[in-house]
Amino acid sequence: MADTTAIEDHILTSIHGHILKIEMNRPEKKNAITRAMYTQMADALGSAVTDGQIRVVYITGVSGIFTSGNDVLDFMNAPNTDADGPVGRFLKAIVTFPKPIVAAVDGHAIGIGTTMLLHCDLVYAGANARFQMPFVDLGLCPEAASSLLLPGLLGHARAAEYLLLCEPFNAVQAVAIGLANVEHSSETLQEAAWAKAEKLAEKAPASIRITKQLMREGQHDVLEARLKREGEEFAARLVSPEAAEAFQAFAMRRAPDFSSFE
Ligand code: COA
Repeated sequence: MADTTAIEDHILTSIHGHILKIEMNRPEKKNAITRAMYTQMADALGSAVTDGQIRVVYITGVSGIFTSGNDVLDFMNAPNTDADGPVGRFLKAIVTFPKPIVAAVDGHAIGIGTTMLLHCDLVYAGANARFQMPFVDLGLCPEAASSLLLPGLLGHARAAEYLLLCEPFNAVQAVAIGLANVEHSSETLQEAAWAKAEKLAEKAPASIRITKQLMREGQHDVLEARLKREGEEFAARLVSPEAAEAFQAFAMRRAPDFSSFE
């Protein structure tokens, strides 16, 4: 069975045969991702790149919650403007990861909880999955190259529903737009997604890596450039008056008021 390491309780990693399992585990805060959690996930992915035993990575949350996205209090108190900081390192690690990543998503997948899926290879959604990218509602802007990948996946108008209006969508819609592969009941999600990870892990590992590389070839430079552009805008937005109002509103559990901004 598994060699389980709790780097910290909020990120659990365990190795099951050829599969590295990464579990976000901060249910009391709806799995909001802190700087420490990004670092732990980036480190786990980094080790998996060079560990010949690891053929597949499996990312999931806890029952009923994938992640509520970046910890909003971290946004407020420790706005991270460094590309080599925890978020930047995690994004780089997942965008460039050379082996297949399988995600099992149930409950809320907010912000980076949705955008990280654009860099996974197979995504399975539980019936309770609810995706949303409320960057604009927080006075921010898209990240993880979602400003490039979503319009490419959906066309501009559909992407605008998610990135400008910040509308949530469910598992059926996620499958329809190609963000997820299959919807499962919440009860069968983990078993079904894990079976796919095992199926991948049984295949010829070099062939799998080369195939993933070919599927992504040509995108590397454009993705890198977009990550950089988004990172610059995001850093400026984090310390903007609009974001300050949104973060205050979140802390006070009220709706933000952007009426005085130009
Ligand atoms: N950052 C920091 N804390 C968060 C959080 C986040 N992203 N998401 C949830 N929490 C905290 C809440 O503040 C609350 O803390 P408290 O118990 O100390 O008051 C706790 O987690 C439970 O959240 P709550 O809002 O009561 O749960 P809910 O079931 O009513 O709603 C969500 C769940 C995910 C819909 C809601 O918490 C939410 O919208 N979170 C913010 C999502 C977001 O904007 N993320 C940033 C994306 S860029």
